[in-house]
Amino acid sequence: MYNVKKVNEDLYWIGASDRRLALFENIYPIPRGVSYNSYVILDEQTVLLDTVDKAVSGQFFENLEHVLGERKLDYIIVNHMEPDHCAIVEEVVRRYPEVKVVGNAKTFTMMKQFFTFDVDAHAVVIKEGDTISTGKHTLAFAMIPMVHWPEAMVTYDAYDKVLFSADAFGTFGALNGNVFADEVNFKEEWLDDARRYLVNIVGKYGVQVQAALKKALTLDIAMICPLHGPIWREDLGWFIEKYQKWSTYTPEDHNVLILYASIYGNTENAADVLAGKLADAGEKNIAVYDVSVTDPSYLVAEAFRCDRIVFACPTYNAGLFPKMETLLHELAAHNLQKRKVAVLENGTWASTAGKQMKEILSSMKNMEICENTVTVKSALKENQLEQLDQIVDFMTKETIA
Ligand SMILES: Cc1cc2nc3c(=O)[nH]c(=O)nc-3n(C[C@H](O)[C@H](O)[C@H](O)COP(=O)(O)O)c2cc1C
Ligand SMILES: [Fe+2]
Ligand SMILES: [Fe+2]
Repeated sequence: MYNVKKVNEDLYWIGASDRRLALFENIYPIPRGVSYNSYVILDEQTVLLDTVDKAVSGQFFENLEHVLGERKLDYIIVNHMEPDHCAIVEEVVRRYPEVKVVGNAKTFTMMKQFFTFDVDAHAVVIKEGDTISTGKHTLAFAMIPMVHWPEAMVTYDAYDKVLFSADAFGTFGALNGNVFADEVNFKEEWLDDARRYLVNIVGKYGVQVQAALKKALTLDIAMICPLHGPIWREDLGWFIEKYQKWSTYTPEDHNVLILYASIYGNTENAADVLAGKLADAGEKNIAVYDVSVTDPSYLVAEAFRCDRIVFACPTYNAGLFPKMETLLHELAAHNLQKRKVAVLENGTWASTAGKQMKEILSSMKNMEICENTVTVKSALKENQLEQLDQIVDFMTKETIA
């Protein structure tokens, strides 16, 4: 059965959700599922904007056939060539052989790499600023390179003031009947996944996200239709402001995040004692995570959210505990910057973890690193509490955020 939502007079959502997939891109856990959004504009000409992942192609084709009815498909606009949105473009072309495929030069280079159909026979190559008129609607295109692939672009429908934003403004999370952000409790139930989606997928490309935002903000936008998650038609400014923060590595919350690794529990104990001291000093909403049991995508997102971070780690074969090492490299790879950080190391015979954590942290931009490394020798002792107080002082005095 088709499952289509009318978005406005001429616009339909024809996407689908996957709640069975464990790992998005085979790396990010998605316990709340994910939606693949696709849209159709029914004008004098019919336009399909992006498609869906192969996993939900059955639902998608039923939706497309229902929306088109007896009409043929005139255009498919490919805003993003990543397979979660266009693994089935070839199948669309096979079913609608007269369709014109719209993309930029890079789109078609990629399309020829992925597929075997005669791409040139269908291609309409557009560039920044070009428009296509479909009757009432005029669609304009703008490039948003590296959000999140080089060929990515957005389509703007000036008639309805709708921005088809590709992966930008997307989020993890299946759509459960409601397709609009104002119909769900986004601030309470979706924001964490929106942050985790954005910072993990394009966190590294803050500069490019900023460039994309600058372009978008010159447009008069009434609605944002992303390729994942709900459609925005209210409170756009609130969500755009979040994107401003994430893409400029500006912390959202004045909170301390404690990330610890621990084999036997002693580093964990030190982390807990430190958290208690921070609470005594007045800190609220302190976030503490064991890096062995929380997927790094959540921790990267938390690091983007909080303005101050403590890393606590045992020494492991003269190196870092592997889960912590991975996490630190992930944070560096995602260009995390402008944070206040402190480290606590543990070791039974020769601690090196502090130095090694600091080396990675020093490679990151604009980090204010606490000079004092707390060194625990197997288990935290009473005479070291003062050292924890120094971290508390460092964390609670004037912050760079
Ligand atoms: C595989 C392995 C390798 C270790 N390598 C080192 C090391 O190179 N240097 C050191 O001082 N301690 C080393 N340790 C000991 C731990 O770092 C130490 O016992 C620490 O106190 C453990 O903290 P925890 O109680 O939080 O797990 C190693 C432990 C394990 C299991
Ligand atoms: Fe993508
Ligand atoms: Fe995507």
